[in-house]
Amino acid sequence: MNKLPFERPIIKKLNTGISNKFGLRTELEPITNIDGVPVSELIKDYGTPLFVISESTIRNTIHEAKRAFETRYPKVQFAWSYKTNYLDAVCRIFHQEGSWAEVVSRYEYDKALSNGVSGEKIIFNGPDKSEDDLVTASNNGSLIHIDHFDELYTLIEISGKLKKRPKVAIRVNMDTGIFPQWDRFGFNYENGEAMEAINKIMNSKKMEFVGLHAHIGTFMLSAGAYDVEASKLAKLAFEFKMKYGSNIGYIDIGGGFASRNTLKGAYQTGKDTAPSFDDYAEAITNALINSQLDTDDMPLLILETGRALIDEAGYLLGTVIANKKLSDGRRSTIVNFGVNILFTAFWYEHRINPEKEYSGHNETTALYGPLCMNIDQIRDSIQLPPLKKDDNLVVSCVGAYNMTQWMQFITLRPRIVLIDTEREVHVIRNKESNKDITALEYVPNHLDKI
Ligand SMILES: Cc1ncc(COP(=O)(O)O)c(C=O)c1O
Repeated sequence: MNKLPFERPIIKKLNTGISNKFGLRTELEPITNIDGVPVSELIKDYGTPLFVISESTIRNTIHEAKRAFETRYPKVQFAWSYKTNYLDAVCRIFHQEGSWAEVVSRYEYDKALSNGVSGEKIIFNGPDKSEDDLVTASNNGSLIHIDHFDELYTLIEISGKLKKRPKVAIRVNMDTGIFPQWDRFGFNYENGEAMEAINKIMNSKKMEFVGLHAHIGTFMLSAGAYDVEASKLAKLAFEFKMKYGSNIGYIDIGGGFASRNTLKGAYQTGKDTAPSFDDYAEAITNALINSQLDTDDMPLLILETGRALIDEAGYLLGTVIANKKLSDGRRSTIVNFGVNILFTAFWYEHRINPEKEYSGHNETTALYGPLCMNIDQIRDSIQLPPLKKDDNLVVSCVGAYNMTQWMQFITLRPRIVLIDTEREVHVIRNKESNKDITALEYVPNHLDKI
């Protein structure tokens, strides 16, 4: 018989007055497998830290989102927000599911083209589009979302050089009742700037005006804000119809739906508070259907949802480096993943579970990353079992923004694997090496020798 490993005892105050008759669970369920693949095997084969992406979860989530919108509105199109996660494998899953690409830089634009997305299915957002970007996007028939008047004037100026009339929409910002208002992108609705931009586009006769776009914020916990947004865009589309006699081709509602993560300091968990796709779809489609828009020729509804489609498909596997006591007696645990790769630790309380069963109680723990930087704190206080050096952890809901906003700082960025729908594991990004990083550096001759 194998000897059970020793777990040191913990003295813990138990609270009375809790609502459940069995009391509060004092252990944490382990996550032993992801999509049927044992976590221990993933760790044995690929080491930690390791990002793991579940293809089944991505596909199930986009199916669920499409169902919510397509059952309520006749013309729906999702456009994958590249900045949320632009690993080629991830983007291609979304494109296989029928999503267009939504990009905000030339880097992302070229990535979408190399992923096989045709120019007409690329939405080009963002404030930074060079003259060359605008020429390329126009000639490819992409949808250019104008952010400011300078961009509009550049398009007019370069129109003589273009092979095709640019297809343009404007980004609109507005008050949706959410504070702070995102007003640094696009043209304001309330002060008439948005209509002014439309008038300039129409008067120039150099562009094809095809749509209206807004992106009102991110991790929006209120479906009601989308009701306001969709109503205001529909009103603007109606004013356009009244003035210019034609219907708008599309209304692009942007992204911003919340994932199931829990925000720092939130009273309840994200699972309990985030609106569902049905809630968002109900608010948006009701606003459009009940507007003055022509029911026989409703605009295409475009959604640039990022976070809510990918967050839950991502996991981060990590390992305990050491345990320490802080000066005030609190337990602290150092793990081998820091805020440089788990960027969203700055604003989420991720669900973090052990990879195996522990019989002991949990203990309040401060969880630190491996960086020699005071800011490298994953959680200031989390309930964890008595983990020891080399024990493993699974962080859930990390698919959005970590694998794009991560940085090579102090440590190298880790490997990423994808578990496909047949439970096969594929490396989709290798871990970085010193060579990868120094490949971009040059040492001047006089520094050859030290
Ligand atoms: C223009 C635009 N569309 C879509 C998105 C995706 O937003 P989210 O990931 O919050 O859904 C963003 C993110 O900032 C954005 O700027």
